[in-house]
Amino acid sequence: MAAPLIAPSILSADFANLQAELERIADADWAHVDVMDNHFVPNLTLGVPVVEALVRVSPVPVDCHLMVADVDRWAVGYAEAGAAGVTIHAEASAAPVRTARALRAAGARAGLALRPATSFAAYEDLLAEFDMVLVMSVEPGFGGQQFLDSVLPKVRRVRRAVDAAALDVRVQVDGGVSADTVARCAEAGADVFVAGSAVYGAEDASAAIGRLRELAAA
Ligand code: DX5
Ligand code: ZN
Repeated sequence: MAAPLIAPSILSADFANLQAELERIADADWAHVDVMDNHFVPNLTLGVPVVEALVRVSPVPVDCHLMVADVDRWAVGYAEAGAAGVTIHAEASAAPVRTARALRAAGARAGLALRPATSFAAYEDLLAEFDMVLVMSVEPGFGGQQFLDSVLPKVRRVRRAVDAAALDVRVQVDGGVSADTVARCAEAGADVFVAGSAVYGAEDASAAIGRLRELAAA
């Protein structure tokens, strides 16, 4: 399995000071940017112009998690804005393969996200089209929710499928990841860890990132 990557979610950052908030996570691997449209999830955050601005100042690659309806229409815009990775929700996509190919053609890594109730089975045959599978470990929409242990068997299934096919596909967990839960995710086979409140809620974000990395690698 590849070395664990830590991707703090700026959803818990101070939105009035995003440049400074990105600098707080310069030790991380990626900056996770949650895009919400108030249709796919009951919350609204930011869009392409803000992502473009974040890419300009971020010390680390920007990883966009799109929680938007009609995602096939929007996804490539985020790659064109400079996001290194763009993750679409399976439930919001009518044509995940076409969108994944368009993302790769635009130079981004393509990710496929699954809500807690969405099974991986229907997507297993599409795995080679993606660079990452994001297993949501809370219902998408808000930071600071409690980690759902019930998604760990799905993390295991994704990991098994990736390894069985010998693919270079990352397995990301997002939601409620903290020093208390990160080891369980790693043990189940995740290798990218999104943490919002656990990093931005810490006094020392860099120490929190280091601690998560250590626990994920143990
Ligand atoms: C939730 C978002 C997450 C969120 C994680 O819909 O996708 O990225 O920011 O926040 P924590 O780590 O606080 O659960
Ligand atoms: Zn997210």
